[in-house]
Amino acid sequence: GERAAWARAAAPGETRDVAHGAVDITQKLASFSGHWSPKVVARLNDYEIKVVKVKGEFVWHTHDNTDELFIAVAGELTIQLRDGNVRLGPGQLFVVPRGVEHCPVAEGEVHALLIEPTGVVNTGDAGGALTASYDDSLV
Ligand code: NI
Repeated sequence: GERAAWARAAAPGETRDVAHGAVDITQKLASFSGHWSPKVVARLNDYEIKVVKVKGEFVWHTHDNTDELFIAVAGELTIQLRDGNVRLGPGQLFVVPRGVEHCPVAEGEVHALLIEPTGVVNTGDAGGALTASYDDSLV
C-alpha cells in the first residue's frame, strides 16, 4: 500500500506530525491467516518490524548482507542451524548472524516478530515457492 506520511523516514531537519497509537501485535496477527508471508507493522530507521505466522518447515537459506532477528510471540519455533537447533518459546528471541545458513521449522502454528533491514527477502539466497512478496498493508 501507499506509505503513510508518518511512516516515511524524515529528512534531516524535517519536522512533522506524528500519528500516535500503539501497534497491537496480537491484533495484527489476528488479521490474517497465511503462513510464511511476513507483513510490515512498523518501521525503525532503515529497519522493518514484521509479523508472521509459520507452520511446518521453511527452506534452508542464507542472508549474506544482514543479521535476522526472530522473536517468538506464540507457539514454539525451532531455528535449525547446520551446527544445532535453537528453540524459541513465547517471549524469547534469537539473532541469526549474517551469512549463517538457517531453516525455521514449527510443528504447530507459531506467531513471531521479525526485525530486519528494509528489502530483505525471506528466502534469502534460496528463492523458490516460499519467497514472499513485500507486504506493508498492515502499516
Ligand atoms: Ni532468514
